[in-house]
Amino acid sequence: MDEIIIKGGRSLSGEVVVGGAKNAALPILTASILAKGKFTFQNVPDLRDIDSIKELLSTMGAAVECDGHTVHIDTTGMNHYEAPYEQVRKMRASILVLGPLLARMKKAKVSLPGGCAIGARPIDLHLNGLSLLGADIKLEHGYVEATCKQLKGAEIYFDTPTVTGTENLMMAASLAKGTTVLRNAAREPEIIALADVLSQMGADISGAGTAVMTIKGVKKLQPVTTSIIPDRIEAGTLMIAAALTRGDIKIKNCDPLHLKSIIHKLEKAGAEVRIFKKSVRVKGKKIINSIDLKTMPYPGFPTDMQAQFMVLMSVANGFSVIAENIFENRFIHVSELCRMGADITISGNHAMIKGVPGLSGAPVMATDLRASASLILAGLAAKGTTTVSRVYHLDRGYESLEKKLACLGAAIKRVPAKPIT
Ligand code: EPU
Repeated sequence: MDEIIIKGGRSLSGEVVVGGAKNAALPILTASILAKGKFTFQNVPDLRDIDSIKELLSTMGAAVECDGHTVHIDTTGMNHYEAPYEQVRKMRASILVLGPLLARMKKAKVSLPGGCAIGARPIDLHLNGLSLLGADIKLEHGYVEATCKQLKGAEIYFDTPTVTGTENLMMAASLAKGTTVLRNAAREPEIIALADVLSQMGADISGAGTAVMTIKGVKKLQPVTTSIIPDRIEAGTLMIAAALTRGDIKIKNCDPLHLKSIIHKLEKAGAEVRIFKKSVRVKGKKIINSIDLKTMPYPGFPTDMQAQFMVLMSVANGFSVIAENIFENRFIHVSELCRMGADITISGNHAMIKGVPGLSGAPVMATDLRASASLILAGLAAKGTTTVSRVYHLDRGYESLEKKLACLGAAIKRVPAKPIT
């Protein structure tokens, strides 16, 4: 396992290009199950999670080929309907094959994902929705086994907006007989991106990006060539890097409309943000203001940016409170940040942060994807050397983050980990 070594204290400046969004690419690649034929996906990020979904689709009989950031998937010969434990345990978003498999093959066997580092993450809302569409669902031996004769449109209400749950239901409902209405649906940009691709394939979807989505089932969908939207979380992470290092970074190829909550909070924290059509420029200021934050479903502040924002608050000029409202256990970065000199106390789903004048470099361990990014950010701001180990978590969701940061002036490198003696 590689490590990332950072010598902190440098101010970052320059231009950086954001890649395709992991959380848009994952459902869009699985949507290929819904139609027989050759798909081409452009601007697909080169990430471990994307490798996992490509591997899963290959296991199911799809022919998958890659050419840089373009992925070709031929689903003509797809004939397996099982997502085995070995693959789902690597990436819980593998559950996204459930809806499309049911719609195409009328059966699916998908390992239950189980909990993960950030919370229990149940899939009851996915299963409840699919059974309302007429699927017969059994949970046996750690697997979801679902069958149906023909999915039928239904009214589905989500107790809480779920991103992958909404996506699974959108895909299944696209080939159901009749009309499905999803209420309290997730409204993330990745939902709109999936709806756009499904519509391009021939689906009839309205209301994507609002809490009520209507999907009129169609008999057949066609393969398409399409491109993945920019990654708003990668963009947000780089924006924090600018504010934190008192730098000046232009983040290109992003969609500023997707970044509104992050821009709002960064401005309140004192950073200067200039917005262009497809880029944002963030200039950090000497004084970072302490501000409070709560994570919410989109368009609220994303939970996927909470750990990174906490690093900024850890060197701000006072107290701030961060409430994590999406995942019950998403403060696993806190103990590592405290080892770097941050002053953070946890109480339930609240983190109380007392800004300190500076962080100090230390060996730290990454425990999940966004926690890894936060530790790298902390390393950029810290005095001395920080070694972030277990960076395979980072590689699940950030493509060459260390190279992008190095181009902006960071003293950062990736090295193979020393063997344990
Ligand atoms: N929930 C349920 N039952 C369900 C589904 C969800 O109770 O059946 C709860 C969850 O436990 C959580 C809340 O609903 O408290 C929202 O979870 P959601 O289902 O929206 O999360 P997800 O779809 O599993 C996606 C992203 C996550 C991101 C969350 C929240 C993908 C592949 N993953 O997960 O991304 O944090 O939405 O925005 O889209 C990441 O990229 O680092 C990441 C974890």
